[in-house]
Amino acid sequence: MRLFERPVLAIETSCDETSVAVLLGHEIRANVVSSQIELHRQWGGVVPEAAARAHVEAFLPALETALRQASLTLQDIGGIAVTNRPGLVPALSVGLTAARSLAFALGVPILGVHHLEGHILSPWIGASAIPHHLCLIVSGGHTELVSAQGVGHYEIVGQTLDDAAGEAFDKSARLLGLGYPGGPAIQNAALGGKPTYPLPKGLSGDTFDFSFSGFKTAVSRLVEKEGSALRVADAAASVQETITGVLAKRAAAAAEQYGAQTLTIVGGVAANRALREKAALACRQAGIEVLVPPLELCTDNAAMIGFAGSLRLEAGERAGEDLDCHSSSPLPNPIAANRLGDASTTNRGS
Ligand code: KG4
Ligand code: ZN
Repeated sequence: MRLFERPVLAIETSCDETSVAVLLGHEIRANVVSSQIELHRQWGGVVPEAAARAHVEAFLPALETALRQASLTLQDIGGIAVTNRPGLVPALSVGLTAARSLAFALGVPILGVHHLEGHILSPWIGASAIPHHLCLIVSGGHTELVSAQGVGHYEIVGQTLDDAAGEAFDKSARLLGLGYPGGPAIQNAALGGKPTYPLPKGLSGDTFDFSFSGFKTAVSRLVEKEGSALRVADAAASVQETITGVLAKRAAAAAEQYGAQTLTIVGGVAANRALREKAALACRQAGIEVLVPPLELCTDNAAMIGFAGSLRLEAGERAGEDLDCHSSSPLPNPIAANRLGDASTTNRGS
């Protein structure tokens, strides 16, 4: 495989993390993430304009730190990969404007990267091939099951019809008075409880899709009905049990049906211990391996954007003058000269 010979600078600002990474070959030399969780806590969710302003403030310090950690200067950079879709447009615009300015000033190629491709490839950073796998993407904005057969060969085989799994955690936590972000709060509270409250699992039958809107309504009703008698730890355990149970069961079933030997779990909700355990259990029976990247690569980060971008830059892909950002976008197409996707030489980097 021909690697991109010079360091690649990667920029991610699609939501509430300002991240700058440097990759050389496919090795991560720096991956700086500046989180806005504290800022958005006051609103209980991400406010796009506030996120954009915070990205502007955090970008240059993150860039300086990344270059220092990689022991490089801007003049060493040979290409730029930037998340340009999908995401919050005011937030994406900050990273894209910075990336375009840098590419112009340095005279280096630039490429827009699909945020979900970054997540899909994140467990394979440093691997010499991307084997056929089933990827469960679970974050605050996404819940998708993707059958991936190599770079750009993606098929969405299931997705949420309404709320994302992370959103279901966040909204439930708010209803239970557990704070923001909800996932870690629910996981902690659940440690002291038992899943004794029955909650709806969403869609039934033979489907790989998900629905969490009825679930959220059921949690709201439970809180109203129980009032001060509500056992919060038990309610948190019930929320976690229900969401992770349905995710694990469908992901394992999809991996089996699509003939994938590996199930990967990416996105912020992949941090959830119950989800990892349930997925491992459901997959063990079918002989499917579960692979979860290290936590710092599960949540939003520029290293995964740099890896996806490097693969495409190496194949000669370049963005045109019209590079723009988009709030939604279908998964990207295969790269032109795709030398990856050959599972025979897999060498896991994580
Ligand atoms: O990928 P991410 O950092 O940001 C985006 O949404 O793009 O994911 C954040 C989501 C939030 O909804 C948060 O509540 C959830 O991931 N999350 C968790 C856990 N840690 C973070 N959900 C369940 N259990 C966790 N331990
Ligand atoms: Zn994400």
